[in-house]
Amino acid sequence: MSYAHIIVILGPPGAGKGTQAARLAEATGFPHVSTGDLLREAVRRRTPLGLKSKAIMKTGQLVPDELVSQLVATRFEEGTAESGIILDGYPRTTTQAEYLEKIAGTTRPQVLHVAVSEGQIIRRISGRRACVKCGKVYNVHFLPRTDEQCGAPCGGELVQREDDREEIVKRRIRIYLDLTAPVIGFYKSRGQLTVVDGDLDVDSVAKQIAELVMAGRASKRPAGREQSRSRRDDCV
Ligand code: AP5
Repeated sequence: MSYAHIIVILGPPGAGKGTQAARLAEATGFPHVSTGDLLREAVRRRTPLGLKSKAIMKTGQLVPDELVSQLVATRFEEGTAESGIILDGYPRTTTQAEYLEKIAGTTRPQVLHVAVSEGQIIRRISGRRACVKCGKVYNVHFLPRTDEQCGAPCGGELVQREDDREEIVKRRIRIYLDLTAPVIGFYKSRGQLTVVDGDLDVDSVAKQIAELVMAGRASKRPAGREQSRSRRDDCV
């Protein structure tokens, strides 16, 4: 079974995909499926997938397509003709995009490209901290916690992700430009892509996304044209 609404949130590392996907999940009730979170959980639990992925993720490389696509396919088995799903961090290669076409059946994913400038990427990633217990994400620049503990009831310690070190972030951005940017072209040529101005504050980005998703659910857009809110040359 597939989903009636498939929302794909694409963008470079640190663009705010996870932040926005969580907000959208709250607003729509759709499940938020982050392949990065699923893989990190597999690493934490030392599952066979986690053991295969750990070293790859640590160096900022992509986990093989077939392993990640299998994770997503499992979630699609839970889909129904009425429900929706929010994909964060998938697809990330054209092979994954083609696989998604297959499992999506007759549903055309609505693809939102959260475009941000490189300066914002570095600032957001360098300031990101995540709770070791519940995974909630903070930022020392934008969403600080003075006590360095999670504000959720778990009260977990806030730490920097291992792949958020500067040299690894540079590699992740290179990989994004080489392997994920072509996915943008893939959806653009099918008229399924909308560019969102991700440089704005969290609420403003969330507002753009909520409006686009509401419009997308109300009426399926005609194919053939990229829709852009505020495309800028310095954004990736
Ligand atoms: P993944 O976890 O998906 O990493 P990513 O794509 O590099 O994205 P990030 O999680 O770094 O950033 P984000 O865009 O979600 O930003 P966030 O909302 O946290 O993947 C990790 C690894 O897993 C990959 O490198 C790969 O190895 C593997 N993997 C995952 N999926 C895969 C796939 N499909 N195929 C193969 N391998 C895969 O925000 C960042 C920070 O900025 C936060 O602190 C947040 O609070 C803050 N912030 C967010 N929005 C704003 C805003 N508007 N203004 C100010 N601050 C903001």
